[in-house]
Amino acid sequence: MKSIGVFDSGVGGLSVLKTLIKNHPNESFIYLGDTARLPYGTKSKDTIISYVKRNLNYLLNNHDIKAVVVACNSASSVISEVTSSVPLIGVIEAGVRAALKTTKNKRLSLWATRTTVELGQYKKHLDKKEKIESLTSTPCPLLVSLVEEGLQDTEIAWSMFDHYLSPVFQNESDTLIMGCTHFPFLKDSLTKYLKEVNKSLNLIDASSEISIELEKILTQDSKKKKQPSSKQEIKVLLTDCASNFKHFTTKNLPKNLNFEFSMINI
Ligand code: DGL
Repeated sequence: MKSIGVFDSGVGGLSVLKTLIKNHPNESFIYLGDTARLPYGTKSKDTIISYVKRNLNYLLNNHDIKAVVVACNSASSVISEVTSSVPLIGVIEAGVRAALKTTKNKRLSLWATRTTVELGQYKKHLDKKEKIESLTSTPCPLLVSLVEEGLQDTEIAWSMFDHYLSPVFQNESDTLIMGCTHFPFLKDSLTKYLKEVNKSLNLIDASSEISIELEKILTQDSKKKKQPSSKQEIKVLLTDCASNFKHFTTKNLPKNLNFEFSMINI
């Protein structure tokens, strides 16, 4: 049975994988965590293009893959520069759709990596879809490390929220796009913080929209050829140190999921 490839620099893409596993119980997944090259969000466009190509080539040349979800905003910012023999699903358009469905005052804020902010794909996709009042984009590289270290529920997290929310409140946004797949793992902690400071903000996690996009592609595919349904398998391939990653998975993903871990050298 063909699998769906998913990749990110580290644990962030697991926030997308979690939703995909739940919404597509008859599909198998291969998650590539490029921990050897983490973080992506501080690297240049050309470097990230080379990472995307490497991940894609590895998945397509070594596994039977029918679609690839680029579960990373920094990498999704460059996918128009990459060609693929299977459908390639980025996360940015999905985030834009989810934000536009949610906002009332059309004053949006974006938290993302520095590269995602600089490459400006959110602004570009928003402009294509609808006229909004404003978009404030804040690079939040420290939040990536915070999640990788599993420090979501600590005072350190709250100091960072304090810092990174200042432009959001200044912009009077009603909606914050969590434009890095690491950030949905901060949602609970951020919700607690917002309650404490008596502020309300819609937090946008694009996973459900990504899942809808994948569903459309799979439906088209299954119209072409009928696939036998079989037991869901979830493989995780890591390009470097696995212990932190395994610990994170156990702590943050449903206990009933059975992950098969292996190391790859690419
Ligand atoms: N989770 C990724 C993103 O959505 C990458 C974070 C990083 O590696 O800097 O951008």
